[in-house]
Amino acid sequence: MLLHLIFSLSVFILIDNGNAGLTSSFIRNEWPSVDIPLDNEVFAVPKGYNAPQQVHITQADYEGKAVLISWITPDKPGPSQVRYGLSEGKSEFTAEGSVTNYTFYNYTSGYIHQCFLDGLQYDRKYYYEIGDGDSARKFWFETPPKVDPDASYKFGIIGDLGQTYNSLSTLQHYMNSGAKSVLFVGDLSYADRYKYGDVGIRWDTWGRFVEQSAAYQPWIWSAGNHEIEYMPYMGEVTPFKSYLYRYPTPYQASKSISPLWYAIRRASAHIIVLSTYSPFVKYTPQWKWLREELKNVDREKTPWLIVLMHVPIYNSNVAHFMEGESMRSVFEGWFVEHKVDVIFAGHVHAYERSYRVSNIHYNVSSGDPYPIPDKAAPVYITVGDGGNQEGLASKFRDPQPDYSAFREASYGHSTLEIKNKTHALYHWNRNDDGKKVKIDSFVLHNQYWGSNHHRRKLNKNHLHSVILNRASTAQL
Ligand SMILES: *[C@@H]1O[C@H](CO)[C@@H](O)[C@H](O)[C@H]1NC(C)=O
Ligand SMILES: *[C@@H]1O[C@H](CO)[C@@H](O)[C@H](O)[C@H]1NC(C)=O
Ligand SMILES: *[C@@H]1O[C@H](CO)[C@@H](O)[C@H](O)[C@H]1NC(C)=O
Ligand SMILES: *[C@@H]1O[C@H](CO)[C@@H](O)[C@H](O)[C@H]1NC(C)=O
Ligand SMILES: [Fe+2]
Repeated sequence: MLLHLIFSLSVFILIDNGNAGLTSSFIRNEWPSVDIPLDNEVFAVPKGYNAPQQVHITQADYEGKAVLISWITPDKPGPSQVRYGLSEGKSEFTAEGSVTNYTFYNYTSGYIHQCFLDGLQYDRKYYYEIGDGDSARKFWFETPPKVDPDASYKFGIIGDLGQTYNSLSTLQHYMNSGAKSVLFVGDLSYADRYKYGDVGIRWDTWGRFVEQSAAYQPWIWSAGNHEIEYMPYMGEVTPFKSYLYRYPTPYQASKSISPLWYAIRRASAHIIVLSTYSPFVKYTPQWKWLREELKNVDREKTPWLIVLMHVPIYNSNVAHFMEGESMRSVFEGWFVEHKVDVIFAGHVHAYERSYRVSNIHYNVSSGDPYPIPDKAAPVYITVGDGGNQEGLASKFRDPQPDYSAFREASYGHSTLEIKNKTHALYHWNRNDDGKKVKIDSFVLHNQYWGSNHHRRKLNKNHLHSVILNRASTAQL
């Protein structure tokens, strides 16, 4: 007990390496990075013939008034109907969905159901029921508050989760956080670490594993490299096949042409999901879509502008170092111009937060070719620390670069608790061997409504009157 206390205390000693940033000295007493065995109770198949399993929900429209419910039945298609309503045990409404299935090498998926619930009221608890007779299952979800600049809302951020005991610890800690919705930054099941029919089997176990959260609150999906599943040795060459069948997104609501990139508005946040592994250079569909979507962002209605992507742009880990450079060179200018508040990424199996920096001055012939402090730039946060079977990315580059504010190689998740249009509380929570410990916390000030908003508005009015005065002078 005493030893444990001493150990816990040592956790808070941080190394100041001379730069402004901190590298945590915490060394994790790690559970082995192996996947939980198939027969473990976290993967248990629900009781009853053809009972719905792998139930998960996501936001299904642009504004948060629709939910897409998805589940799998193993034995026969069965109904795609959802019965739902505002009181428990009494379903006032029904919605009809659709069913599909796919093969992956010699694996055949169960029957994948998707059902769209529309015209929901804001800020209410809905109860829903799926499946037939004795095998029917009941769940609930809460709709977000209406899109409003002062709506408060708590998001969780999870990345690179996988299905190990560390993943389970992350998920359990997240579920105690009180957050209402997950921003998932890619790399879901790590099923692609398996071969042949086991790929599909590990997608199924992952679906049953996350159901405990994902059936009750929306997970906002983005895709990582482990979703690509380009496996020519099995003849499986269609990128993102399993992911696209299983994890639909509301891309059409934001006029995207691909489920891999899209945007939603939820409470006071405008969330943009990008795909690192889809074309994004100038003139591609994703580039054109993002250019238009940024014009749709109205900070008067949704003050918080959040971007999700898989590969971090500012990463000082040895793992995946500079992999974000291609996307940085294409999009960073826009992120600064549009004053994005925060960008969440995964991919690197560790935690890292940047200062507000940008590297947009270099243009081959001249300009500073390195990141500099920039108040208009986003904070970049890497939470690829969900706990998958590849283990930790434990080696950071030394010395810590100036752009890096805090970094630690251990497992955890983050929460972003939006209070109002100016303030959000951010926490990174380490899975401290079974206990939740808040390590990296700060107040995120809104980039649009922050302290100088009032002044900016005045300046704008001032400028306006100067121009008017000039115009009137010119007329004289
Ligand atoms: C999908 O389900 C249908 C209807 O049960 C079945 O006939 C078909 O063989 C299934 N497809 C695959 C790829 O297994
Ligand atoms: C699928 O193929 C693998 C490798 O060829 C084999 O080991 C496995 O038994 C097959 N599974 C089924 C369900 O046919
Ligand atoms: C390149 O950067 C320099 C210095 O910032 C600037 O003066 C010049 O106009 C830029 N050239 C182009 C083509 O953007
Ligand atoms: C916004 O929230 C912060 C943090 O809770 C609080 O200090 C501040 O007073 C709030 N602002 C307004 C206008 O309510
Ligand atoms: Fe990744």
